[in-house]
Amino acid sequence: MVTLAENPLRVGLNQERTPDPCIVVQFGASGDLAARKLIPAYYRLFVQRRLPPEFTLVGVARRDWTHEVYREKMRAAVQEFAPQDLGPEALWQDFASRLFYCRLDIGDPEGYLRLKQLLSQLDEERGTRGHRVFYLAVAPDFYAQAIQQLGAAGMVADPTKTRVVIEKPFGHDLTSAQELNRLVQRICQEEQIYRIDHYLGKETVQNLLVFRFANAIFEPLWNRNYIDHVQITVAETVGVEDRAGYYDTAGALRDMVQNHLMQIYCLTAMEPPVSLRSDGVRNEKTKVLQATRLADPRNVAAAAVRAQYGPGWIAGKPVLGYRQEPNVNPQSKTPTYVALKLECDTWRWKGVPFYLRTGKRLPKKVSEVAIHFKQVPLSLFQSAAREVSPNILVLRIQPNEGISLRFEAKMPGPEIRTRSVDMDFRYGTAFGASTPDAYDRLLLDCLLGDPTLFTRADEVEAAWRVVTPVLSAWESEPGSGNGGGAAPPLFTYEAGTWGPKAAEDLLTQSGRRWRRL
Ligand code: BG6
Repeated sequence: MVTLAENPLRVGLNQERTPDPCIVVQFGASGDLAARKLIPAYYRLFVQRRLPPEFTLVGVARRDWTHEVYREKMRAAVQEFAPQDLGPEALWQDFASRLFYCRLDIGDPEGYLRLKQLLSQLDEERGTRGHRVFYLAVAPDFYAQAIQQLGAAGMVADPTKTRVVIEKPFGHDLTSAQELNRLVQRICQEEQIYRIDHYLGKETVQNLLVFRFANAIFEPLWNRNYIDHVQITVAETVGVEDRAGYYDTAGALRDMVQNHLMQIYCLTAMEPPVSLRSDGVRNEKTKVLQATRLADPRNVAAAAVRAQYGPGWIAGKPVLGYRQEPNVNPQSKTPTYVALKLECDTWRWKGVPFYLRTGKRLPKKVSEVAIHFKQVPLSLFQSAAREVSPNILVLRIQPNEGISLRFEAKMPGPEIRTRSVDMDFRYGTAFGASTPDAYDRLLLDCLLGDPTLFTRADEVEAAWRVVTPVLSAWESEPGSGNGGGAAPPLFTYEAGTWGPKAAEDLLTQSGRRWRRL
C-alpha cells in the first residue's frame, strides 16, 4: 500500500493531515520564546483546526504557577504578541482548557517523576496514548541535562511515540556540538530529534527550493558559467534587546551565521535532491557544507570581518552602543556584525564566491539572497550607468517577500541607451494572503513527524566545521591567533549604518560591492 508520506503527489501538502493525539511538553514555559512565538503558533494551529481534538500542552518551568495562572499568562502572551489572532473568548477558553502546568527544576529528578505522573494521568483523561513532543526552549546550557533526565525517567524510550525538539544554538562550537549529538543519540534515536532552525519554517526560505527545482529556466544558469557571485544578507535593526546573558557569549557568528545564514546558503547552493523526503533534502544540504570553506582559510582576516555596534541612530532615535547595553560586559569583544567570503568546492560552484553578512543595529530589517550574474561578454550599448549592469536575481526573504529580476531595458528616446529595471513578484499580491509564521509550519511538521525542515546531526556538525576556523582565529589569545600573529581585529560601526568599511573591502578587493538595500 502506498502511504500518505510516500505518495509524491502529496509531498509538501502534509498540512492537510492531522497529527496524532499528542501532549506537547513545553520546557521554558515562562520564557520569552514560548510567549512570543510558540504559544501563539499553537493557538493559531488550533483555531485553524490543524491540531487533533485531543491536543494537550503541559508548560514546564521553575516558577510556582498553577494550571490557572499558566493559562492566564499564556492568554496575556497571545494578547501581547499576536492580538490579531485572539478571536472570541470562547475559542481561547477552549484552547486554554488544553493547557496544564508542571513546576520542574531541570536538574531535579523528582520533578521529572511528577511530570511523568501528570502525563500518564492526562493520557487517561484525554486519550493521548503516550504520544509526546518534548520541546526544549531553555538556555542551551540545559539541553544535555534535560535530555539526560528525560532518559533516566524513561520518558523518551519509545521512538515511535516520543520526539524531542531542540532550539538553536546546538552546541557552542564543533566539539560541543559533537558531544551534544553523542549524548542525545545515546538516549534517543536520530529520528526522534528535531533540531529547530526557524528560518527553515519561513515560506520564502522554502520557496528557494520551489523556485530552483519547479522551474526549468533558472537551473541551467545556476552555476559558475553564468553566476559571478552570490550575496546573502540578514540585516536587523534591533540591538541585543534583553538577551545579553545569552548573546554576549554567542555573538553574531553563533547566533545567526552557523544556523540561519548557513541554511539559506545551503538551499541556494545545493544540488537537486533525489526526492523531497527528509533525507533527500538533508543529504544535499550536508554535501554543500562539506564542500564549503572560508575563501582564504590561512588568512582569516582576509575572508571574515567582525564588528560591534557603537552608539548611533535608528529610525531617528538615539540608541546605545553594544557595550553600554544593560548586562553587556563593558569590555565585551562579542561581534554583533559578521561578513564572510565563502567558497564551495564543487563542479557547480568552483570559483564563485558566496558573501554572507548579518548584523544588529543596521539601518533596515531586510533578508535576501542576491544572485549576481556575469557581465555580458561585450557591451554594445551606452548605459545610463557607466556600463551595462549585470543581471541580478533577488530572492527577498523578508520583508516584502518576493522575487525580482533586474535586467537592462532600452530607455525611451531616439538613442539606444539602457537602464536597469526590475521584474517583480510579490507574495502578498500574487497570493492575496499574508505568509504564516515560521513556527506554525515547524511545530505542525514536528507533530506530524516530518523532519525535512529540521537539521540532522551531521548537517549541524558540518555547519560548525565551516565556521570553526573563524571562531578559532577570533577567540585566540592575543599573539597566538592566526598563525601566531595577532587575532583579526574587531571593528566598530555606528548603529544605524551598514557595518564597518572592512566589510566593504571584502568585496571591493575583487571589484564587487554589496548591494545597497
Ligand atoms: C534568532 C536570533 O534566532 O533570530 C536573534 O537568536 C534574531 O538574535 C532572530 O534576532 C531573527 O529572526 P527573524 O525571524 O526576526 O529574522
